[in-house]
Amino acid sequence: MNEHDSEKVAGVLLARGYRQVESVEAANVILYNTCSIREKAAQKVYSRLGEYRFTQKEGQVIGVLGCLAQQEGERIFTRAPWVSLVCGSASYRKLPQMIAELEAGNRRVTGLETDTDETFETELTRRDNPWRAYLTIIEGCDKTCSYCVVPFTRGPERSRASASILEEVRQLADVGYTEVTLLGQTVNSYADPSARRMRFSELLVAVAEVAGIRRVRFTTSHPRDFGKDIVEAIEAVPGICEHVHLPVQSGSTRILKAMARTYTREEYIEKIELVRASKRLISLTSDLIVGFPGETEKDFEETLSLLDLAQYDGAFSFKYSPRPNTPSLKLGDAIPEEEKARRLAILNEKQREIQRLRNEGLAGQVFEVMVEGKSKRERQWSGHTSSNKVMNFTSRVEESLGDYVQVRVTGATPNSLVGDVVGE
Ligand code: 5AD
Ligand code: SF4
Repeated sequence: MNEHDSEKVAGVLLARGYRQVESVEAANVILYNTCSIREKAAQKVYSRLGEYRFTQKEGQVIGVLGCLAQQEGERIFTRAPWVSLVCGSASYRKLPQMIAELEAGNRRVTGLETDTDETFETELTRRDNPWRAYLTIIEGCDKTCSYCVVPFTRGPERSRASASILEEVRQLADVGYTEVTLLGQTVNSYADPSARRMRFSELLVAVAEVAGIRRVRFTTSHPRDFGKDIVEAIEAVPGICEHVHLPVQSGSTRILKAMARTYTREEYIEKIELVRASKRLISLTSDLIVGFPGETEKDFEETLSLLDLAQYDGAFSFKYSPRPNTPSLKLGDAIPEEEKARRLAILNEKQREIQRLRNEGLAGQVFEVMVEGKSKRERQWSGHTSSNKVMNFTSRVEESLGDYVQVRVTGATPNSLVGDVVGE
């Protein structure tokens, strides 16, 4: 999401005549996009801003964008007075105007409103990859997970009209994109604001049907709004990728309740059974938090047993990090840092083993892979399967980046597959 925000911001500035440069030293304007999801990410921002202070040239504008900008607001000017622009993601539409104000001699500008119901729509996005495009369909988040800053930093949910999304997908296809990833903090909570009232699963199908589009991905799905219709869409339309990212956060109903995740362990299991029962081999990935306040050894063991049950193809796991403004900040029973680290290590080790076995079980199968990279080694290439697994493969011929090839799996690691191009 943040990477794509940077692409949108770069696009807007390029359209105003700015030019992208290769290094911080060569820049007249530095816009630093930030994350504040966990404390560590937020700390990094101030240390990086500290470095910019010493390299700042006369007249060089330093701006801070993203969630930390939203969270800290004008405090950034106090802690880092060499910064002259602070703007959260809900206000990016105002960026050109803000930059114009700085050009006109204004010393400090801010964009910190989150109550806008407009989305940051722009055809001016400067995408980094010529084949795979990100596309935001819903911004903000209306869920109120008790540990999470996103509802504060990205504002309320705002969906883009389906016709406008489809128009952009057609334009992307026209210029050669074959893969699009629909983005949203809770992408499947998409609510078409237009009279068409297209459901999320219908939108997936419509995007996949655009001529030239070969792959449609979507992330992140919230379990509450995840229904059978999404699995049915994946089954019916080969272009919708066989991958669902469905964060569980914890395997304990008690902790899920304290997190305000709005589902129980059992309800979550019902959702993943929908995915696992599919005729297509849909890969399933998750996010997990260990050491939430009050998490007992028993709660943690329930998370471990959920891993056994879910058999995730991948998982991002984090130590709970207390964040400003969030309800869980007031909870007692903090788990000591060393205990969080211990639980995280156990969880990661277990998940690694699950992935190793799952990936090894794919030996002999053939998957379609988009050619995305060439290795330094002779005849070695890499790309992703529809199920979003990394495939490192051998091909005798010179492949073209962006092409699709059939690859047979010959080996596996916990995080990738190894294979050979079929039919040579
Ligand atoms: N502490 C730890 N992890 C968090 N996440 C969100 N907020 C926190 C927090 N306060 C994790 C969740 C979410 C992912 C993007 O980041 O697992 O799904
Ligand atoms: Fe944060 Fe929960 Fe919204 Fe995800 S669904 S962005 S974890 S509040």
